[in-house]
Amino acid sequence: MGLSFYVMATWVGGMVGDSLFEQRIRADRTSLESLAVRIAPTLAESDAPALQRQLISAGGELGGRLLLLDPNGKVQLDSYGEIQGTRLEYPEIVSILVKGQNVDYGVHELETGVSLDTSHLLFTRRTTAAWVGYCTAGVVYASDVIGVLLLVSPVQEIMQNLYQLQDQMVMIFAAIAVTSLICAWIFSRVITRPIAGLNRGIQKMSKGDFSARVKVRGSGEMKQLARAFNSMSEKLETLDQSRNQFVSNASHELKTPLATMKIMIESLIYQPDMDKNLRTEFMTDINNEIDRLSAIVSDLLTLVQMDSQNVKLTRENLSIAQLIKDNAHRLQPIANQKGQKIVLQLQDSCDVYADKSKLNQVIYNLMENAVKYTQASGVIKVSLQRQGRNAIFKVSDNGPGIPKENLPHIFDRFYRVDKARSREKGGTGLGLSIVHQLVLLHGGAINVESEEGRGATFIVELPLHQG
Ligand SMILES: Nc1ncnc2c1ncn2[C@@H]1O[C@H](COP(=O)(O)OP(=O)(O)OP(=O)(O)O)[C@@H](O)[C@H]1O
Ligand SMILES: [Mg+2]
Repeated sequence: MGLSFYVMATWVGGMVGDSLFEQRIRADRTSLESLAVRIAPTLAESDAPALQRQLISAGGELGGRLLLLDPNGKVQLDSYGEIQGTRLEYPEIVSILVKGQNVDYGVHELETGVSLDTSHLLFTRRTTAAWVGYCTAGVVYASDVIGVLLLVSPVQEIMQNLYQLQDQMVMIFAAIAVTSLICAWIFSRVITRPIAGLNRGIQKMSKGDFSARVKVRGSGEMKQLARAFNSMSEKLETLDQSRNQFVSNASHELKTPLATMKIMIESLIYQPDMDKNLRTEFMTDINNEIDRLSAIVSDLLTLVQMDSQNVKLTRENLSIAQLIKDNAHRLQPIANQKGQKIVLQLQDSCDVYADKSKLNQVIYNLMENAVKYTQASGVIKVSLQRQGRNAIFKVSDNGPGIPKENLPHIFDRFYRVDKARSREKGGTGLGLSIVHQLVLLHGGAINVESEEGRGATFIVELPLHQG
């Protein structure tokens, strides 16, 4: 790139130099040509003294040394009066005498014997040579070239100016080259740094480290990309954490009944003469634990199925009111045992297009929770009504309620408010998360309202069957 800038500078310098010279050449040529016309008759007459006078005065006017050569190239007259009789063979003279040109011009470096300073490209050269311009014109009389006029004029100043100009050009272009290099470097840093950061982040993530975040910087699009990356890694991190949590919770839930069963089975093995009633009691407990285990496993299966999104809903036209009545009937014996009342307030015309067994699971889980967590002689109210295009199904009780701080987690897997008490009641904390997933799957929404000590209300919204 530096080289191309240098070439450019020299080229532009050359162009400017040419135009500077051109003016000078044109001026020299025209004055020399008109002088040649003027002296032609004098030369033809061989009036030497008149010629001498004319040349000296013209040489002074033109600001240079004037020479008159005969058609053989021999100097006839020299306005400096130094080299009469010498034969000159400069190409500019040859082109007039041999090639028949009218005028010609050339620049030569001449030995002057005086030392001069020529500065070019930061260097100063001391030299005794100086630049001179040779302008020649043929003196024509009666279509014959009878002599050649040669004007030797100093062009040292023009050359020096030209060198300076060239130097300045080179400097300017060098400055431009350096600035553009710096700009390009800064620009590439600005562009590549965020990309490098992003790249590091992606590599970290590919190694399983989801805590990787990148700095949001750079241009608009880079910032967007960085933000998108951060939000993606954040989501992956939470997903990863919840998956780990889920696996550890699930294994813990499965281990507890297994451990209980192991103890009981071991007692049965090592105490062969155990009392028959006690033995039956142990067997019943083992049987219950097995039921619990299989319930957990089937709940887990349901959840895993829903996670992998390959649940198929076998939809049909259903009356929610009927489903609620069926579930109330199923739960009535337990409620009776606890002296609880189940109150139904159902608007009949609420039909939905849904999967029967899944919707049943939703209703059962919510009503079962209400019965299970409400103290003896509590009241469980179940209502159903239309609201616009939705069916609103509410299960409320006057039980212990759910503390505010637990509400945001109530639909999480394995989440139980009172860990010890609900496990006693056979709960695994999967019921509500299944309900939540199922409601979403049906295009509905679920919410909970509760005040501690005053009961809880679960509100399910389901889109009504249209048409
Ligand atoms: N009606 C309610 N009143 C008070 N607390 C409730 C009520 N419903 C649920 N909870 C609380 O929310 C927790 C989560 O309920 P969820 O139905 O998910 O699990 P579970 O009932 O413990 O177990 P599972 O339903 O899987 O047998 C319960 O452990 C309980 O602490
Ligand atoms: Mg439950």
